[in-house]
Amino acid sequence: MQRPTVVAGIISPTRSVPSHISRPEYAYSGVPAPYKLSCIKKTAEQIERMRKAGGLAREVLDTVLAAVHPGVSTDELDCLAHQHILALGAYPSPLNYMGFPKSICTSVNEVVVHGIPDNRRLMEGDIINCDVTVYAHGMHGDCSETVFVGEVDDEAKRLVQVTWECLLRAIDEVCPGNKLNAIGLVIETHARQNGFSIVREFTGHGIGENFHMEPYVAHFYESKNAMLIKEGMTFTIEPMLNAGSAECVVWPDKWTAVTADLARSAQFEHTLLVTADGVEILTGGREPWFLR
Ligand code: MF3
Ligand code: CO
Ligand code: CO
Repeated sequence: MQRPTVVAGIISPTRSVPSHISRPEYAYSGVPAPYKLSCIKKTAEQIERMRKAGGLAREVLDTVLAAVHPGVSTDELDCLAHQHILALGAYPSPLNYMGFPKSICTSVNEVVVHGIPDNRRLMEGDIINCDVTVYAHGMHGDCSETVFVGEVDDEAKRLVQVTWECLLRAIDEVCPGNKLNAIGLVIETHARQNGFSIVREFTGHGIGENFHMEPYVAHFYESKNAMLIKEGMTFTIEPMLNAGSAECVVWPDKWTAVTADLARSAQFEHTLLVTADGVEILTGGREPWFLR
């Protein structure tokens, strides 16, 4: 049976944020502030705030994923996330980030990343990545998971499983003294061994007071990126694997990235803290939802 392609839907009016919620610098202008390189290593005080932001992002992502069912629209998921984030006293980081119109990203089937929630209703057999970022305690926490909508076919199960394994293997490489490109190497190797391709245009990123900052983290092997991982760094790893070719096309909305061949794509993301002897997953939780 042929799977219908995802098409641009109707985007609901902008959701408001009450004035008592503290906003990131771009909330009105849409323009993120430049960051200082000195901010790459976090202090103990910053780390404590990152832990709180990461924990809240996790809590909201769990709420959103629990609501994924056939017939639910991605706008309804956005509404749920938006209300929950406000109730936590936090700001939904995507909202007006470089003009992004909604509070979370919802990327269905061949949508690789940055899908805009709209009136499309989820259908049995879809896969969907929900990406939640919150701004709280002056810090951003960023995480995403791909889940199944009802029963999905075997290729979808394998794609999601291998993508999750890539993130786990990558996290195992995070410790002081290892090179940043060790992360991309394990992801690319595992993806290729399973017949999937790795998206190159979108990378992991440093995170903190800024939504996106140095260091960027490629999900493929990049020999020149030999920067050493250091204690106190906080960054995301968020590999995107495609069932077909790695090539992406961005829609005229300037956000929605889809696979060029319309094969499906999956992604998982965590925000990580480099500790003295390894890593702490700031957006960690229990098992991923697709395994529950
Ligand atoms: N959460 C995405 C990331 O992982 C970024 C979304 S930017 C937005 O980096 F503007 F699309 F929301
Ligand atoms: Co991210
Ligand atoms: Co994200």
